[in-house]
Amino acid sequence: MIVASTSRVPSRSRWVAEHYQQCLQALRIDADLMALDRVPYNLLETTLYRNPRQPNTAWDSIQQRVHTAQKFIFIIPEYNGSFPGILKVWIDALEYPGSLRGKKACMLGLSDGTQGSALAMSHFADVLNYAGVHTLAFRPRFIQIGKNMSAGVLENSDYLKQIQIQIDQFITF
Ligand SMILES: Cc1cc2nc3c(=O)[nH]c(=O)nc-3n(C[C@H](O)[C@H](O)[C@H](O)COP(=O)(O)O)c2cc1C
Repeated sequence: MIVASTSRVPSRSRWVAEHYQQCLQALRIDADLMALDRVPYNLLETTLYRNPRQPNTAWDSIQQRVHTAQKFIFIIPEYNGSFPGILKVWIDALEYPGSLRGKKACMLGLSDGTQGSALAMSHFADVLNYAGVHTLAFRPRFIQIGKNMSAGVLENSDYLKQIQIQIDQFITF
């Protein structure tokens, strides 16, 4: 599963996620793409931190897709020096510990500044490790993403190469 880790629309993370999905398709690997703008707005009323939870079919479908997935690729934009709050909401709302424990993940970060989500990915790796997820060491950082993307297309050949390297590593991870 590829997670475009923001609810912002339009989002560069979504475009990178779509490119990533196409790279996998070229290798005959089908990856479900989950964009977090699909997290239902009423999640707080029905699900998040609720005991008991109320029915929410939109969230149930997301939960089911996560249960099915074994490997996760998180495309993480940098928001205020960390990862987006909606990503933490998504993690907090998932059934614990069965949703993620023992599964595998890799991360790719992007930002307008010069960190490329380095700290964001470090923060999120701690969250994933707490949830029992094993993470790939190689984390591409796409800095100055606005200058390296045009009309939703990644134009930096080094960034494109880093995606291929990460895919190669993650397949055997
Ligand atoms: C709420 C918010 C906070 C941001 N904070 C940072 C930041 O701390 N550092 C940075 O370099 N860019 C920051 N940016 C810029 C984003 O990293 C950049 O616009 C990136 O394209 C966002 O990904 P998205 O298009 O998928 O939302 C921020 C953008 C938003 C919307």
